[in-house]
Amino acid sequence: EDPKFTTTPSSQTGKAILYAAEKLRSSSIPVAFPTETVYGLGADATRDEPVKNIFAAKGRPTDNPLIVHVASLKQVRELLKPADAPEDASYEIPAIYKPLIDKFWPGPLTILLPLPEKSRLSPFVYATQVTVGVRMPAHPVALALTLMSNVPIAAPSANKSGLPSPTTAKHVAEDLYKRVELILDGGACIVGVESTVVDGLSDPPAILRPGGVSLEQIRACPGWENVIVHKEDSSGASGVAPRAPGMKYKHYSPSCGVRLYLPDTDQPTIQDLKATAFGSAVKVVRMGVLRTRQWRELTETERKDLLDLNVEVIEESLGTTGEEISRKLFGALRKMDDEGVVLVHIEGIAEDMEGLAVMNRLRKAASVVIRQRAY
Ligand code: TXA
Ligand code: MG
Repeated sequence: EDPKFTTTPSSQTGKAILYAAEKLRSSSIPVAFPTETVYGLGADATRDEPVKNIFAAKGRPTDNPLIVHVASLKQVRELLKPADAPEDASYEIPAIYKPLIDKFWPGPLTILLPLPEKSRLSPFVYATQVTVGVRMPAHPVALALTLMSNVPIAAPSANKSGLPSPTTAKHVAEDLYKRVELILDGGACIVGVESTVVDGLSDPPAILRPGGVSLEQIRACPGWENVIVHKEDSSGASGVAPRAPGMKYKHYSPSCGVRLYLPDTDQPTIQDLKATAFGSAVKVVRMGVLRTRQWRELTETERKDLLDLNVEVIEESLGTTGEEISRKLFGALRKMDDEGVVLVHIEGIAEDMEGLAVMNRLRKAASVVIRQRAY
């Protein structure tokens, strides 16, 4: 038994969460925990030391702000309140968020709230922003941890900066074992992509990062009919401070190359797989294929023909529904690296519903995007 892992569900679950909650309050080393989207690397959002250690552990640029996790609307109102406000003063959540909170909390949605002049949060949480991102996660372990620790929890995804987000406790251990106090193991995340980040303080309101709640779902809410999807400026060349600072950095990339095929392009042929393997004539090269809705599995004969050309194919289906593809995506990218794949060919999907978040991640991971049919 690895002392850093606590398994759930088990009779020890409650004890493990309580122990983690105590560490959150007292330790300056972050604690990893499951949410329904991805695993988070958590720290008491009101203390500088543990928050700084999150950035150090991930190798994350300090101008990229963290999301704060809460378990109640009361905790949200506390975040809106200046540190020197009278005890009984009350601050309201901006009305634009009410329909979203009613519908999607707890769940994979992060809202931007205005920061009070004197915030009780560590300034390292919000970096250079005048807002703070807040989310109420739906995972029972995340909620229990937040309730038991009774502090707002600052938590980015629990991966090394630039790598795919972790959707199992094992992924967290692979990236951050020596940098975490402990890892609460809640099994595989059911959503699999991160939360949708929305800014209701701008006009029109905007989605800064597509995620577990779809554009279509948000647009259906009163006040959000004209929501725009913020176009990222990955170059940073405009000189304007990016609205979603995290989006300008390289993301979600396995070490292997990624060729992303847009829908309606052809499945790579045996010849394509061989041609892109840049292998030596004598050593077997591993190539990855991740299929979704249209591509078919290689036949035994095709696999054998490729092996004769020193190309071994590691193949996997990500599923056909948006939910399934979201859930399996990051794990499959990590698996390609584990298997020593040099290049993975991925079948993209249409960018509606879950497809918007999936393709946002895949475009960032991709070294090449194939847009045209071969003919
Ligand atoms: O699902 C999730 O959101 C996961 C789980 C652990 O909750 N967390 C997560 O955190 O994905 P992270 O740090 O990996 O991504 C947060 C994103 C970044 O792109 C960051 O720039 C953006 O949210 N963000 C955070 N606070 C912001 C703010 N005040 N203004 C604009 N963007 C903000
Ligand atoms: Mg992240």
